[in-house]
Amino acid sequence: MRRIRNHVNPLKTAYATPQAQRVALPEVGEVEVELGCADAQFLFQRAAANPGVTCLGVEIREELVDDVNLRAREGGLQNLRAVFANVNVDLDALLPDLRIDRIFLNFPDPWFKRRHHKRRVLTDEVVDVIHRKLVPGGALLFQSDVFELALEAMAVLEEAELLANARGPWSFLKAENPFQARSLREDRCAARGMAIWRMLYTRAA
Ligand SMILES: C[S@@+](CC[C@H](N)C(=O)[O-])C[C@H]1O[C@@H](n2cnc3c(N)ncnc32)[C@H](O)[C@@H]1O
Repeated sequence: MRRIRNHVNPLKTAYATPQAQRVALPEVGEVEVELGCADAQFLFQRAAANPGVTCLGVEIREELVDDVNLRAREGGLQNLRAVFANVNVDLDALLPDLRIDRIFLNFPDPWFKRRHHKRRVLTDEVVDVIHRKLVPGGALLFQSDVFELALEAMAVLEEAELLANARGPWSFLKAENPFQARSLREDRCAARGMAIWRMLYTRAA
């Protein structure tokens, strides 16, 4: 069995060199993307509940990508697939503009040490790319169990003029995750009774 690494450093040269090719998507129909999908539990639930929606996971750990694709095939989920890419360098090349209905950033950044903060996934550059990829009215969901991380992400997102916070400026979603799917990390947080910080942004135009 292939060993699955706990983390890879996205700044390592091998990952920092753009290498993704444009992903093939159907001409019509909604598309959802999870950035940093890991085992893609969230997308497996979304894909099973929404067979007409194409679900795409983006993940930097290649072994996880292979495993997701194998399980999707074995489970007969033709609308789910994962691709190997570094969100911080590959996203623009990977996805067509104005094509994605929903983007999920579920529990990113396991980097707590200050010297690792430069590895953050949600940068101003990535937010610009996300904006370009979303259809008008398309949505970005961000979730984290780390309040400081959620606040940092909110600061980046509030700066993005063309994304609007669905609950009003500087607001978290109060209720449950509105997408009726739970990632593995969310399950683990729920089992430990931990608070989860969520924000929903939509592309205005
Ligand atoms: C803490 S895990 C969360 C996984 C899943 N979203 C969940 O909620 O259970 C973060 C995932 O993002 C991936 N990741 C981190 N940086 C990335 C990057 N720059 N590009 C693509 N994936 C990345 C990691 O390999 C890891 O699988």
